[in-house]
Amino acid sequence: MSARALETGSINLGQGFPDADGPDVVKQAAIDAIAAGHNQYPPGIGVPELRHAVRDHQRRFYGLEFDADAEVLVTTGATEAIAGALLALCGPGDEVVTFEPYYDSYAACIAMSGAQRRTVLLRPPDYAFDPDELRRAITPRTKVVLLNSPHNPTGKVFARAELELVAALAQEHDLLVVTDEVYEHLVFEGEHIPIATLPGMRDRTVTISSGGKTFSFTGWKVGWACAMPDLVTAVKTAKQFLSYVSGGPFQEAIAVGLRLPDAYFSSLAAGLRAKRDRLCRGLDEAGFTVFRPQGTYFVTTDITALGEDDGMAFCRALPERCGVVAIPSVVFYDDVSAGRSLVRWACCKRADVLDEACARLKDLR
Ligand SMILES: Cc1ncc(COP(=O)(O)O)c(C=O)c1O
Repeated sequence: MSARALETGSINLGQGFPDADGPDVVKQAAIDAIAAGHNQYPPGIGVPELRHAVRDHQRRFYGLEFDADAEVLVTTGATEAIAGALLALCGPGDEVVTFEPYYDSYAACIAMSGAQRRTVLLRPPDYAFDPDELRRAITPRTKVVLLNSPHNPTGKVFARAELELVAALAQEHDLLVVTDEVYEHLVFEGEHIPIATLPGMRDRTVTISSGGKTFSFTGWKVGWACAMPDLVTAVKTAKQFLSYVSGGPFQEAIAVGLRLPDAYFSSLAAGLRAKRDRLCRGLDEAGFTVFRPQGTYFVTTDITALGEDDGMAFCRALPERCGVVAIPSVVFYDDVSAGRSLVRWACCKRADVLDEACARLKDLR
């Protein structure tokens, strides 16, 4: 879809990347690290500055304690941490339970591990799930629950009661939880609760995040996984033969970012909340049914009210019809009927870009 946006000169509300860079101080830290000659292979587990900064971040925001030398692993984006965790922790004969719609790398990584996925449907408008469906998805073969909160593509922030159910089932069935929290600082309503903070969960959870969304440098690909030592060792063993190590100067820069004052993190969320509101308003005025997200970069709409029902066909035609690109949510579903009429839009763009996209979309009617 990004290629279609370029080809057609359309506004790209498809892929989730911001169109403005993050803080200068973080950018300068990368430039300084390169100028200082920190350009050779960094340690496999990550540079100490970043591992210590991740430890301090988990303590500062969530009261979670990790040993920076044994319980924090730096990865090439959250993507590699997810891949490494699934490759390390599951294999043929195992099952992974996750929620759908899901971020597309989950299906690929579960498949690469040889495990099978079982999904539990999140239903609009609030993307709640049926607790019995979750219970039924867990079988004697289940090894891992793969969680994502705040959630892409729905923008759902899992509530405490929902996380408590996942935690209770994980303990009852002796499951590991791999949790992708890359949007942890992009929450507009409610509160991000890392499942590792719930009683009994710290030592059966691999908590994954990255600097891409938090610092608006999605191209740097600096991520991390926090877990008890045996789990980190397992993920590290897989990582060793995926990327071996991850870009050193960028690690040092993200360490600087993680130590920015609280005001940085709150203004990031406030800025994106205003963009979320702007895009939701425009989509609503254009006639879509809008499911207002509690967090992340994304807004989901239903196109039925516009007299359409096939999101894939709608998104394929959209660049020609009005010069805007969006993503058909069906690509994030196993149950294609559940996602057929849904379309995902990225709100992490400049206000003038969002306004122009909304003006073009109004012409659809
Ligand atoms: C839910 C989710 N997890 C992981 C990623 C990728 O993170 P990274 O760029 O750090 O690999 C994304 C990026 O869109 C995402 O939406």
